[in-house]
Amino acid sequence: MSPKKVIFLVGFMGAGKSSVGKLLSVLLNVDFIDSDSFIEKNEGMSIDSIIKKHSWDYFREREAKWVDKLDPNFTYIFATGGGLPCFHDNMEKMLQLGIVIYLECSNEVLFERISNQNANRPLLSALSGDELMQFIATTMADRASYYSRANIIINGNENVEAIAKQIVNILAW
Ligand code: S3P
Repeated sequence: MSPKKVIFLVGFMGAGKSSVGKLLSVLLNVDFIDSDSFIEKNEGMSIDSIIKKHSWDYFREREAKWVDKLDPNFTYIFATGGGLPCFHDNMEKMLQLGIVIYLECSNEVLFERISNQNANRPLLSALSGDELMQFIATTMADRASYYSRANIIINGNENVEAIAKQIVNILAW
């Protein structure tokens, strides 16, 4: 597989996109970009504040804007926010720009990881345990058809090192 492409990591919140992306960038010696951090830096505020100050639509437009600005002429890892592939034409555009890798996790693993993380996630902050499980199930049902259009689907239930190694092997870098 040609290495001269952007490598996109997609998947639900808690799938490990940022952790895997950081490790992959070391293993492959390429840059790493995290779409949430990128947007926060450019807007000068957290995702939570962006949504409170503006709206979800505004945030989704920001995501789409950055996808439009990506440079396909050099290789880097781009970890998307969990919803990014499912709005505007982002998935289509990413498939045209590079290789899209879906870190597919079971709902149970996502629940475990999200419950144990204190990441700033406005979609989840007010949910009880039962509500979180329900949220994951219904949102995954909506999103699965977007994620599964990825070029490569990896078992994201494993640990970060194992996932990154699998990706390196598949890319045959
Ligand atoms: C979102 C996921 C978050 C962030 C925002 C919305 C989503 O990113 O973009 O809170 O819609 O799934 P992570 O997947 O990196 O947590």
